[in-house]
Amino acid sequence: MSDRKKVTLPALFKKVADGVPITWLTCYDYPTAYLQEEAGVDMILVGDSLAMTMLGYDSTLPATMDDMVRHTAAVRRGSPNAWLVGDMPYMTYQPSVETAIRNAGRFMAECGCDAVKLEGGAEMADRIAGIARAGIPVIGHLGLTPQSVSALGGFKLQGKGAAQAKKIVDDAKALEEAGAFCILLELVPDRVCRIVMERAGHCIIMSLGSGPHAHGQLLIYHDAFALYPKFKPRMAKVFADAGAVIRQGLAGYVKEVTERTFPQPENWFGMPDEEYAELLKLLK
Ligand code: KIV
Repeated sequence: MSDRKKVTLPALFKKVADGVPITWLTCYDYPTAYLQEEAGVDMILVGDSLAMTMLGYDSTLPATMDDMVRHTAAVRRGSPNAWLVGDMPYMTYQPSVETAIRNAGRFMAECGCDAVKLEGGAEMADRIAGIARAGIPVIGHLGLTPQSVSALGGFKLQGKGAAQAKKIVDDAKALEEAGAFCILLELVPDRVCRIVMERAGHCIIMSLGSGPHAHGQLLIYHDAFALYPKFKPRMAKVFADAGAVIRQGLAGYVKEVTERTFPQPENWFGMPDEEYAELLKLLK
């Protein structure tokens, strides 16, 4: 396990003040969290995208609070020091402020999270305010908000037109004023992201496919390492083709077992001759 220090909110704001970009990846399991911890990733998001990346659904909507708690706690065990963000799944905050606070509290108490994230603009400002008042750091999510994919007409760029872009800028202000310490802009034009940045007060602005001007970058782990079989979004860079490495390994496994070249003596355990002779006697 790495010996780095726990990432804190002041440490994140120091990066912003020093002009050092913040790194943020999604993660859903213990071994991957361990690797991200070793790599020194600043923030980890256990996204409700786990419904797609880990469970094979076509949208994020089927993720439940219990799914999220189970996976987020595993990620915390793998990465004790990253700033861990629990992503509030569909209908765990939309119904009421109280629902939002209770579910945000589960992420903190049951998973050891540092913060939670929820989707939506000014209409979610009271949820953000309630969670922040409960002492829980909260992140807003604007632009392409996958829980509203049906209303948005698909996984596509948001804020291309001036009117829609103005709404994103206004929503960002509303979320910041409600108490969000950070706002994620997903798939909005780089110029819109820059305007949000310029107007932000004490609020960290993160980009997912929204250009280079933000305080840091988020990527979906499965996109960045070619592990999602259905599609690769244009905005995602593949940093390493882990899928290809695993595919090669699987082909080797199937071949060696089929050809009886695996296992070899170093892969099994023998039994002393006298114990074996005794066993045969006992079995008579
Ligand atoms: O669930 C998730 O991974 C997310 C990202 C798309 C930002 O919310």
